[in-house]
Amino acid sequence: METPANVCVIGGGRIGLPISVSLAKRGMNVKLLDIDENRCKAVNESKSPFYEPEMQEALEFSVKEGYLSATTDPSCVAKCEVIISAIGTGITNSGEPDIESIRNLSEMISPHLKSGSLLILKTTLPIGSTRKIAENIAQNSGFVLELDLFVAFSPERIVEGKAMEELRSLPKIVGGVGPKSTKIASKFMGGFGGKVVQVSSSETAEMCKLIDNAYRMTRFGFSSDVALVASQNGINAYEAIKASNLDYERNNIPLPSVGVSGYCLTKDPHYLEASGGGIWEKRGFNSTWINARKSADYQLEHAIEEIGESLTGVSGKIIVIAGLTYKENVDDIRESHGIYLSKRFLELDAEVRSWEPNLPIGRDLHIENFHDESCLDGADGVIFTVPHKEFIEWRDDPKGVESMRNGLIFDGWGIIQEEKMPNEIVVKGTGKGI
Ligand SMILES: NC(=O)c1ccc[n+]([C@@H]2O[C@H](COP(=O)([O-])OP(=O)(O)OC[C@H]3O[C@@H](n4cnc5c(N)ncnc54)[C@H](O)[C@@H]3O)[C@@H](O)[C@H]2O)c1
Repeated sequence: METPANVCVIGGGRIGLPISVSLAKRGMNVKLLDIDENRCKAVNESKSPFYEPEMQEALEFSVKEGYLSATTDPSCVAKCEVIISAIGTGITNSGEPDIESIRNLSEMISPHLKSGSLLILKTTLPIGSTRKIAENIAQNSGFVLELDLFVAFSPERIVEGKAMEELRSLPKIVGGVGPKSTKIASKFMGGFGGKVVQVSSSETAEMCKLIDNAYRMTRFGFSSDVALVASQNGINAYEAIKASNLDYERNNIPLPSVGVSGYCLTKDPHYLEASGGGIWEKRGFNSTWINARKSADYQLEHAIEEIGESLTGVSGKIIVIAGLTYKENVDDIRESHGIYLSKRFLELDAEVRSWEPNLPIGRDLHIENFHDESCLDGADGVIFTVPHKEFIEWRDDPKGVESMRNGLIFDGWGIIQEEKMPNEIVVKGTGKGI
């Protein structure tokens, strides 16, 4: 296949939109297909629906120059040689993969496909899904896989906050449903920049994505449990881990935190677990990464308990959640531990405020949001959930802390310098051992 001129990206979210504007900036004609009319309208008006460095300018350029437009009409597929799926997927309440959103992909695109099309799945999927989707499309469209229809999985591994930069630089893993699909998809993915890593099957490529996040989860779960042991023994886990890592290259132990959350680290370990094919049931216990997931989640309950003990109950108390986004310096609250904590404290009858500089004041949140330390006025406790740059700046000059009613700081990220706090302030925290 020559370098294609027409590409359809399905799903214009945190992954699909960066991919779309990257291709459009390279002069390709990009159709963004999304079921969400508002999302399409925003894109067509050159308004990025979320913050991502470089995104707004790239979007404006792409739309203005006519390289990118968004639509809800699947017939746009008919004009495209390459189709990329960046549809979002989820998990059910019981932790099973929920890939319902991609189930109708075949019905949606099959009637419009042309001969020789390449479909690249970027959507994170349980192992084996790409092949099933490919076979389904072949059946519905009448095209033959590896002859006039090519399908590959290429995991998306960019992080929010560096999406555009990492699209250009990260290695691109590619595994097709057959060698021709791998070859054609590799050529296309190589155009983004970064080296191409071909693997022997779409299943291997699917697994690569899942083990990335399950591995990260496992390491974070390890640190969560280290923090618990440290607390039980009056040890500061940060001190122990830093000392243990220092000049000892066999260690690279992450520092603990109150929450490990976000869209991918919450669901992907479950996707890998679900790909276990009955092995967990047979051996009688879950995968390491699912236990790690549970360990990390337990830190949240542990923090709620410690805050409750310090304040002799939280009912009627004013609690500030410093950080609602799932990680520092982004505006994404999907599956965030800050949101979880806010809801749990509300359930416990506390009055809850948030200090979240990355979300607008007045946004339709379930609690009142503040952009600065004025939220501390009259508050009983504040819990730092992520290390936003504003919090790191604040710790050096902790204004407003003296206006708290009960001065409890719960440091969920090891960011507070206790020596900078007035004596009446009590500092607790994840793995602080005090
Ligand atoms: N966000 C990340 O940092 C990240 C990183 C790596 C991989 N991923 C994976 O990439 C995929 C997309 O993630 P995201 O963060 O962009 O999700 P998102 O929720 O931000 O965006 C998904 C988009 O898909 C649209 N959509 C859903 N079903 C559709 C359908 N049937 N047809 C057309 N559009 C549809 C939604 O309206 C939405 O605009 C997921 O599988 C995710 O696991 C995400």
